[in-house]
Amino acid sequence: MNILVTGAAGFIGSHLCERLLSEGHQVVGLDSFDSFLYDAATKERNAALLVGKPGFRLVRGDILDRPLTLELARGMDLVVHLAALAGVRPSIQDPPRYARVNVEGTSNILEACRGAGVQRLVFASSSSVYGAKSLPGPTPGGGERAKGNTPVAFQEDDPCLAPASPYAATKRAGELLCSTHRDLYGIGVCLLRFFTVYGPRQRPEMAIHKFTRLISARKPVTLFGDGTSARDYTFIDDIIQGTHAACMNVQPGDYTTYNLGGSRTTTLKTLVDMISSELGIMPIIDWQPDQPGDVPITFANVSRAGKHLGYEPKIPIEQGIRRFVEWFRKP
Ligand SMILES: NC(=O)c1ccc[n+]([C@@H]2O[C@H](COP(=O)([O-])OP(=O)(O)OC[C@H]3O[C@@H](n4cnc5c(N)ncnc54)[C@H](O)[C@@H]3O)[C@@H](O)[C@H]2O)c1
Repeated sequence: MNILVTGAAGFIGSHLCERLLSEGHQVVGLDSFDSFLYDAATKERNAALLVGKPGFRLVRGDILDRPLTLELARGMDLVVHLAALAGVRPSIQDPPRYARVNVEGTSNILEACRGAGVQRLVFASSSSVYGAKSLPGPTPGGGERAKGNTPVAFQEDDPCLAPASPYAATKRAGELLCSTHRDLYGIGVCLLRFFTVYGPRQRPEMAIHKFTRLISARKPVTLFGDGTSARDYTFIDDIIQGTHAACMNVQPGDYTTYNLGGSRTTTLKTLVDMISSELGIMPIIDWQPDQPGDVPITFANVSRAGKHLGYEPKIPIEQGIRRFVEWFRKP
């Protein structure tokens, strides 16, 4: 297939491009090497892993550039739209910037698909669209894979009407724009709600990467709340398996949402303990109050993705942290 991947120099985009190229697809990777969230040098290193591989073309450009996105969409069988400003807390500092890239940018990509006659789109959404759910008793974690539905497991048919941060609201808006384009023009869309993704090349400002860097430098780690907030962490290989299956399955006229998560939660305190024991270094913790925009828990019900995409998260957090730390230690 001819595939346009936006955000190709990012964490998830670079892994997805590697996978698609290994199967012989022709991939055009679009990225602006934006340095708002983290440094462009990291993205250059990610892109360098792709440039020169047969079938890959890197385009340095912006999803806000309408003529460019239209030109790139021409002749594509599929567009995978990953480019965005990610991150909950920075979105609170600059909501208009997030709206521009994530909402207007997504609208541009949809228009490019319409103009170029592209019938298939995979869109990276986020678990954050679910907003703040309460924690009913013990969190589903502690080494056990959560079994099926529990009241707190996020389900795709939740109306998602109260995103807790500007970032989350822009992702929900992007989903709705996709819905409208499907209804008006029949473009097939697969929405993927990623649950905190980690692994080699994880964004440097994300918790696992940041904690690993600070603990190994014997610097204090700031933790917000009381350590009981919980996240469903998903190893990058599992995300790529699910995203790849979505790419191969999406059909014109579709509009389907899938949770891609690890389907198990880990508390903040447990996460820090896992990282520090893997590094063999006692962490120095600086406890601070909860941050606005943060949610107490994320937890994916992945049964729909399991049924339709054959998605099954395989890497438990203990193994994933070990693999992340191995990667982090490499010179
Ligand atoms: N990593 C996660 O845990 C996670 C969780 C939920 C959703 N997501 C979503 O998945 C996607 C990929 O996330 P990631 O962690 O790889 O982030 P990332 O920041 O590493 O990748 C995004 C890429 O998009 C590029 N980009 C930003 N603005 C652009 C623009 N205007 N034009 C062109 N390129 C632009 C950036 O330069 C970056 O390389 C994002 O849409 C993100 O919101 C990620």
